[in-house]
Amino acid sequence: MPDPIEDFETALGELDARQLLRRRRAVMPIDGARVMVDGVERLAFCSNDYLGLAQHPALIEAAREAALRYGVGAGASPLVSGHSPEHESLEAELAAFVGLPRALYFYAGYAANSGCIPALVGKGDALIADALNHACLIDGARLSGAERHVYPHNDLAALERALVETRGARRRLVVADAVFSMDGDLAPLPEMLALCERHDALLMVDDAHGFGVLGEGGRGTLSHFGLHAGAMPSRLIYMATLGKAAGVSGAFVAGAGPVIEWLLQKARTYMFATAAPAMGAAALRASLRVIEADDWRRERLSALHAQLAAGLATLPWPAPTTPSAIQPLMLGDNASALAVMAALDERGLWVPAIRPPTVPAGTARLRITLSAAHEAGDVERLLAALRAVAG
Ligand SMILES: Cc1ncc(COP(=O)(O)O)c(C=O)c1O
Repeated sequence: MPDPIEDFETALGELDARQLLRRRRAVMPIDGARVMVDGVERLAFCSNDYLGLAQHPALIEAAREAALRYGVGAGASPLVSGHSPEHESLEAELAAFVGLPRALYFYAGYAANSGCIPALVGKGDALIADALNHACLIDGARLSGAERHVYPHNDLAALERALVETRGARRRLVVADAVFSMDGDLAPLPEMLALCERHDALLMVDDAHGFGVLGEGGRGTLSHFGLHAGAMPSRLIYMATLGKAAGVSGAFVAGAGPVIEWLLQKARTYMFATAAPAMGAAALRASLRVIEADDWRRERLSALHAQLAAGLATLPWPAPTTPSAIQPLMLGDNASALAVMAALDERGLWVPAIRPPTVPAGTARLRITLSAAHEAGDVERLLAALRAVAG
């Protein structure tokens, strides 16, 4: 009989040998994008706090006031006693912000996707997904029991073929990231929506990395493409996370009233999990106001991105142009990605190397994320370090 503990040790050793072992670091914010990492100061280019709101005084104050009123824990699932007036108001404000009839607030984006997809489709249905979708969309698809069809990244012709092939399914759900998390590029949402209209399928988009960053007032990728409130077809299900640009945690799913009511009734990660605390909902309500008002944060992000892209273009590694706050620098193999990450680390810069299985084999990269908390001098420091590493 093999010893299961020894098995784990052997498997961990194998991961280590393949340079796939992940290590956490204990991180303390200092100011802006500066952090203490295991006691050493670093300038970070790895957070998804794109607008620099996680430390915003208005959010902290809103959370503090709500904590005094509601306590720090929700105590139960939203369907029992975990749903407060703060949650209720947040959902109404989120729906109005993105111009959809109703929204449902989840404690995490992972829970929203992995819970909603199996509530929307199951056996006898078809799930059609982009090949580069985020892990929690993939897990939701696997859990659903629907027949899965994966089309090559952003390939509209292949998506249409899958829609034609699945004509006989009871229900079809197309699922994609709106901004792809490791590449920073966008899904062609207007064309996807038109295809779903033509083929009578539902479309679910995960705007984790577009919400707050793209579109008018930070309304996200739909708004970026000019898909405005009122013109949204009821087949659209919009999901966005609230732990990234919004600076707090959680996620919401928005769409037609009956769809959202169905998710409330059937998404197991909503029903069988303790609600996010009211203080998080209160901080998010404050965050929404800042997101909408502070256009300067998005403007600064664009200016920093233009500066970064111009500098990266002079380096030997490919750096595809992206419209989001995510800028990949393609290094290819795991060892190169780790070596460049380590060389930057020695210079006080924290840029994560992303390796398989998070990205396809042979496409290891540095994932540089920008924030409105960065300054032009921070980007110049990163570029100077990369130039030195490139030799
Ligand atoms: C595209 C995408 N969707 C969903 C999630 C999960 O959201 P959360 O971190 O709130 O669980 C992430 C990353 O965290 C993501 O990048």
